[in-house]
Amino acid sequence: MSFDGLPSPGRNDKCWCGSGQKYKKCHQKNDLRMEVLAGQGFEVLPRDLLKTAEDIEGIKRSAEVNVGVLDYVGEHIAAGVTTEEIDQWVNEYCQAHDAIPADLDYEGYPKSVCTSINEVVCHGIPSPDEVLKEGDIVNVDMSTIKDGYFSDSSRMYCIGEVDPEWKRLVDVTKQSVEAGLAAVKPWIPLGDVTAAVNKVCTDAGFSVVAEFGGHGIGLEFHEDPFVSFVREAGTGPILVPGMCFTIEPMVNMGDAAIDMNDPNGWTVRTADGLPTAQWEVQIVVTEDGYELLSW
Ligand code: MF3
Ligand code: CO
Repeated sequence: MSFDGLPSPGRNDKCWCGSGQKYKKCHQKNDLRMEVLAGQGFEVLPRDLLKTAEDIEGIKRSAEVNVGVLDYVGEHIAAGVTTEEIDQWVNEYCQAHDAIPADLDYEGYPKSVCTSINEVVCHGIPSPDEVLKEGDIVNVDMSTIKDGYFSDSSRMYCIGEVDPEWKRLVDVTKQSVEAGLAAVKPWIPLGDVTAAVNKVCTDAGFSVVAEFGGHGIGLEFHEDPFVSFVREAGTGPILVPGMCFTIEPMVNMGDAAIDMNDPNGWTVRTADGLPTAQWEVQIVVTEDGYELLSW
């Protein structure tokens, strides 16, 4: 039996990935490398998490909608807009593009997008009573299902003139994601990527939330692995071509501690009430690095 308990084709049989090629010309080399690493005691995730060429095409079509939504938000967001209006934009955009907002009804979540303002770390719920004002920093976290494929990304939007230290938080958080991306390549442990993200944040004097992180994604909203941004370099599962996951650190200006006691059961805030920022991208690991799918 193989390292992940899944059957492997014979070397002249067709590859498991649906490419139509012989196994020996397709995934066999990578599969053997995974087998060896697993034997050496590294954490190696099962091959059924790896995305086929067809999966990646589907995820890209979904991601196109996700990116389109966030572009649309960027063009229209301003002081005076309510977060309910952002939710409406999301619904209209999805409807016009034959897509479904993945957040809606996800584990009972009541809206189609997350809108997290200032000290809200994540899962801010859009509301007609919540009006954006000059100086706010807002994360809009969008997730799309199209033809059964999932995409997920989020951006920060600064409303008008923002306090310079708040702007630095937003910028450093984005730079931390870029540092993570620069570290991504196959056959290294995931911790090498997340430690690169964490270092940019902590070097800048900010703190990284431990309770939330990124995730595998593609055929489902949240797949393995969990992508913790407090994970140390040299630890965690080995990155393999075809793995698809998000990089989405939540970065606090003050303490890393969070408050999860909102009566709505969703909205997470910084414990100290200081602002927090997040950017999220979705990638697939390739033979020589990564491809950005959603941002
Ligand atoms: N989009 C979030 C993520 O990055 C998940 C939001 S789930 C919801 O994983 F239910 F709060 F919408
Ligand atoms: Co995500």
